[in-house]
Amino acid sequence: MAAEKWVLTVTAQTPTNIAVIKYWGKRDEDLILPINDSISVTLDPDHLCTTTSVAVSPDFTHDRMWLNGKEVSLSGGRYQNCLRELRSRASDIEDEKKGVKITKKDWEKLHVHVVSYNNFPTAAGLASSAAGLACLVFSLAKLMNVKEDHSRLSAIARQGSGSACRSLYGGFVKWIMGKEENGSDSIAVQLTDEKHWDDLVIIIAVVSSKQKETSSTSGMHDTVETSMLVEHRAKEVVPKRIIQMEEAIKNRDFPAFARLTCADSNQFHAVCLDTLPPIFYMNDTSHRIISYVEKWNRFEGTPQVLSSFSLKCEILILCRAVNKLVAVLLISHNRKAAAQLLQRLLFFFPPQSDTDLSSYVIGDKTILQDAGIQDMKDIEALSPPPEIKETNTPAQKYKGDVSYFICTRPGRGPVVLTDESLSLINPETGLPK
Ligand code: DP6
Repeated sequence: MAAEKWVLTVTAQTPTNIAVIKYWGKRDEDLILPINDSISVTLDPDHLCTTTSVAVSPDFTHDRMWLNGKEVSLSGGRYQNCLRELRSRASDIEDEKKGVKITKKDWEKLHVHVVSYNNFPTAAGLASSAAGLACLVFSLAKLMNVKEDHSRLSAIARQGSGSACRSLYGGFVKWIMGKEENGSDSIAVQLTDEKHWDDLVIIIAVVSSKQKETSSTSGMHDTVETSMLVEHRAKEVVPKRIIQMEEAIKNRDFPAFARLTCADSNQFHAVCLDTLPPIFYMNDTSHRIISYVEKWNRFEGTPQVLSSFSLKCEILILCRAVNKLVAVLLISHNRKAAAQLLQRLLFFFPPQSDTDLSSYVIGDKTILQDAGIQDMKDIEALSPPPEIKETNTPAQKYKGDVSYFICTRPGRGPVVLTDESLSLINPETGLPK
């Protein structure tokens, strides 16, 4: 190491992901080893991602982390496991410009600073541990010159939070549960990259909820302890579903993809209900969204349009508990269906009168344009969708029940940001900018 003062930094950006075949239940809680394989789609980091800057300096006295502007402790077992795994794989580095040389041995004594931000409002509760932990592992691996491929890094991120291992890749990703007791074969692999099926559009409805939080970690612990259904799911249902899902993704077969994703999401919620005490991740608003979309799918699938329900199943629904709030995820098979979906969602769930449209629909705003909506007046002018008109019942609107919508699509995996102006760390002090 050079004698003078120095700070070395790396900045990276990592996406979040949403499971289409869910991970729920661990066979080892310390190593975070799951009871079944899972498959996810990575969401476009332009709309949802974590950016993390990491730094090392001989002046740092201990490992520190700041998350969304606040210092948080790194003393938790999960962080410590990741840091230990990374340090043990660190290699020599040399920065000629700064005259710095760090040997493999030096990494045992050197401390790091981590500064992390999410590019979406934290109030959404969507501050997914997946993107955060994946970004921490990815950026530190770059800083420490860890010479391992993304699959090996995924096994480290997995020890921070299970779903984080799937955020090491873009597109569709499978987390292979593995058989080894030490977890060495419990890794994520990419099934297809984000370009393979890029006409999918994902709309996330962040639903206001007064429900009490049940964290994934404690929820799935209770499920494994008390649910009889979860064993059947892990042993009998998921293995077959994984094969079918891989096939559906490979062939871009939306009806099969939709059927499998809906079935798996429903079974996940069933397993939650089969837990003692039962876990409820859906509220009235999420149920309402689901039944409207079901109604629409059924309407589209009537014989008049010469199509069957399953073939016309344009939208599928997933629910994911995100901290205190609940988000409903809707995936459309193309932009046209997504624009029609957004019109319906905005018709039933208009924003509060004082809400600004640009903060009510965030992410890929071109879907709003496709839906012909430019301002609040356009939302007020939306007419009831035909499937509602048919029932002769006045359409009830639920103003303010959705906090906001995020429009996004499948996206790429983690990247290093080389533009120094994007670093979150002051290169002189090693502290957050
Ligand atoms: C419902 O990865 O948050 O989103 O491993 O305990 O940190 P821990 O849990 P976490 O669980 C995610 C559960 C899920 C399904 C999924 O993402 O597969």
